Amino acid sequence: MHPYYITTPIYYVNDKPHIGHCYTTVLADVAARFQRLIRGDSSSVFFLTGTDEHADKVVTSALEHKTTPQAWADQNAAAFKEAFAFMGVSNNDFIRTSEPRHKDKVTQYITELQKTGDVYKGEYTGWYDVGQEEYVTETTARENNFHSAINKKPLVKRTEPCYFFKLSKYQQRLLQHIELNPHFLRPDSRRSEVLGRLKPPAVLNDIPISRPVTEDPSTQWGIRIPGDPANRIYVWIDALFNYLSTVDTPERKQFWPPAVHLIGKDILWFHAVIWPCMLIAMDRPLPTCVFGHGWWISEGEKMSKSLGNFIDLAKLKAYAARYSLDGLRWYLSTQGPMSGSDADFSHAKFVEVYNADLANGIGNCASRVSNMIAKYFDGKLPARPSQSKTPSHDWPALASAAAKTAISRIDSLDLAGSLAQGTDLIKQVDGYINITEPFKLAKKIEAEPALRDQLASILYNCAEGVRIASLLFSPAMPTKMADLWNRWNCTPPAGVPLAELCEWAGPHSLKPGAAIEKGDALFMRADAAEAPPT
Ligand code: MSP
Repeated sequence: MHPYYITTPIYYVNDKPHIGHCYTTVLADVAARFQRLIRGDSSSVFFLTGTDEHADKVVTSALEHKTTPQAWADQNAAAFKEAFAFMGVSNNDFIRTSEPRHKDKVTQYITELQKTGDVYKGEYTGWYDVGQEEYVTETTARENNFHSAINKKPLVKRTEPCYFFKLSKYQQRLLQHIELNPHFLRPDSRRSEVLGRLKPPAVLNDIPISRPVTEDPSTQWGIRIPGDPANRIYVWIDALFNYLSTVDTPERKQFWPPAVHLIGKDILWFHAVIWPCMLIAMDRPLPTCVFGHGWWISEGEKMSKSLGNFIDLAKLKAYAARYSLDGLRWYLSTQGPMSGSDADFSHAKFVEVYNADLANGIGNCASRVSNMIAKYFDGKLPARPSQSKTPSHDWPALASAAAKTAISRIDSLDLAGSLAQGTDLIKQVDGYINITEPFKLAKKIEAEPALRDQLASILYNCAEGVRIASLLFSPAMPTKMADLWNRWNCTPPAGVPLAELCEWAGPHSLKPGAAIEKGDALFMRADAAEAPPT
């Protein structure tokens, strides 16, 4: 199977991890776990996240904290690693742009681009947004009255000797690529946005990719232009190379090109235009897809430090403590701004989704089924039914369709749609219990012992349905599903592809006679009236 490489943006190390960082990283985690499960082979999946460390602000903050930029970056990168470990993220590597393995490669790439003439020396005058670490065009500057569109602070006019990247040369090639590959930029709204800015009469100018090194210590941090140490590489260009530098080794080169660069909408231009053009210039294949999700807002309002409504790591931890980490991962993966527009992180919505999908969904269904097996079959799974097709439910077909749909949706990064296959399967099991009424049947067994087989079939089918749903849920909720597998003695063996694991009553199905332990509720019901966790 073709290797699968997924990336998140690398995060500014000066910031503290918050929902924005955790969201993209958890989504990528769910996708990576799904791919490993689908393939039954984790070695063909590579999931990368990391930190972007060469911003000027790292130096100023380090000075304020009386430490060195490297020590400051070390400390903050550790905070990101911890946050992602807390969120249960299974990244294969964590790249830090201050690492020699990255810096050496960047020097090599810029040298390559200097040789081809795609990077050349000139002079630049323009409006600089200090907060964003980027130049803005004259038009954008004017539109915003020469203030930052993001933090509203005045823009600064700068003239400096500068190296440029010949972006203009690749406009046509990129435009063609986007037009020929409808899934290159997703969702569609992002594609249209980029096409609108690329199609004639729009003209792409060459872009500055360096900054002069001066006495100011903040200009001395970063990677130098090869052969001209008086200039250093602009932090965004340095950062974009991380996707390539990490896998540009003999052991990992098969992972290039990435299947997905998962990013937020605000950094689309860098990923959808500048980075692909740099890759074309370097004669490297382009990523299959750049996916720009929307943003989370908080209880209906844009998050801001001044409003004090930031969903920071402490808040995420409070949600995880009350509703379980997997409950939080479920909410992020199914209710997030993947369609492109923004999504609201609201406590009321969280409780509604948690109760519907988890406490009253898989949680309740698993308890119902294990309770009945405990009561009627002494906690041992009854024998496999000879008939798994009933007039209302053709279980082998239902299970295989759920797995197929989940797989095809994950391939197009529709995580919520894929996970919904598990939710639907649980609904089918609940509906089947309501139709077949095993609890009523059980009461009649004493008088009619022949009904015992029928009861056994029903409960076997229910349990097997829950098992298959749990497999489809596991990329989003690895801990809770592993807990269920332990109780039900059905931990899937490593190395078996998902489609095989999902085979109804197949070699990896529940074993007749196996203990089905009840245990505590997987997800405690949430009280909507309780105040939000803090
Ligand atoms: N360092 C650059 C990326 C370089 S990639 C080569 C950067 N870093 S960042 O730390 O500012 O944040 C990055 C990601 O967080 C972006 O994808 C951004 O969209 C995301 N988010 C920040 N706030 C967010 C929300 N409120 N909601 C969802 N994602 C948000 O940009």
